[in-house]
Amino acid sequence: MRIVLVGPPGAGKGTQAAFLAKNLSIPHISTGDLFRANISQGTDLGKQARAFMDAGRLVPDEVTIAMAKDRMAQSDAENGFLLDGFPRNVGQAVALDEMLLGEGVKLDAVLDLEVPEDEVVKRIAGRRICRNDSSHVFHVTYNAPKTEGVCDVCGGELYQRDDDTEETVRTRLEVYHTQTEPIIDHYRCQGLVVTISALGKVTEVTDRAMEALKKSDEG
Ligand code: AP5
Repeated sequence: MRIVLVGPPGAGKGTQAAFLAKNLSIPHISTGDLFRANISQGTDLGKQARAFMDAGRLVPDEVTIAMAKDRMAQSDAENGFLLDGFPRNVGQAVALDEMLLGEGVKLDAVLDLEVPEDEVVKRIAGRRICRNDSSHVFHVTYNAPKTEGVCDVCGGELYQRDDDTEETVRTRLEVYHTQTEPIIDHYRCQGLVVTISALGKVTEVTDRAMEALKKSDEG
């Protein structure tokens, strides 16, 4: 399956993507994780992206689209992928449409995670991520690690993202409403949007998402 995951910062896209990708046997492709990996490796791409990310703004399209295309061209994504954080504006959505059209394939669904704004702020404020693997995501209250500051999965150090400050989160939410939400209408016109509530336990949201994807695949 080829799926796009969309939702505000802190909605639980990364958390759900880890489970959905495993259940569906497709790679989880997160442009945020790709940028963070480039930053920690000190690459030119990371240097270009860092200032935009720290400010909560979108990294310019030419950089982002090239990076996402490169990743999607890898062999593990040949038969499907779960995109998390891409596309993030209508220009990126059009670039993705053109790329898929060129390859003679189509998206199967756009899974839209709905969460009230006060909840996303709480989720982001308490988020902790593993330095070894950014797919190991915890929350100080909702999904606390057994030992404070230590990843349950691999023992890595847990840290708070640089862009999880109150001020940056406000900018990220504004960017989401003005630039990312319009892609939902773009895909609604293509009959691809499936909206679910992302409230409740992580496992409940995964079950809801799997059920919604199954129905959209049958329909
Ligand atoms: P990115 O990394 O994509 O961040 P984001 O979209 O802001 O999303 P988050 O990672 O903050 O949240 P999430 O929805 O994944 O939530 P999570 O699962 O962690 O992008 C970062 C930056 O990179 C952007 O601002 C931009 O600068 C740049 N960028 C990336 N892609 C780009 C693009 N395409 N174009 C241009 N620039 C781009 O969950 C949050 C917390 O909640 C966790 O602590 C988790 O444990 C907890 N949680 C999850 N689910 C539940 C639940 N059901 N109940 C309780 N707690 C929960």
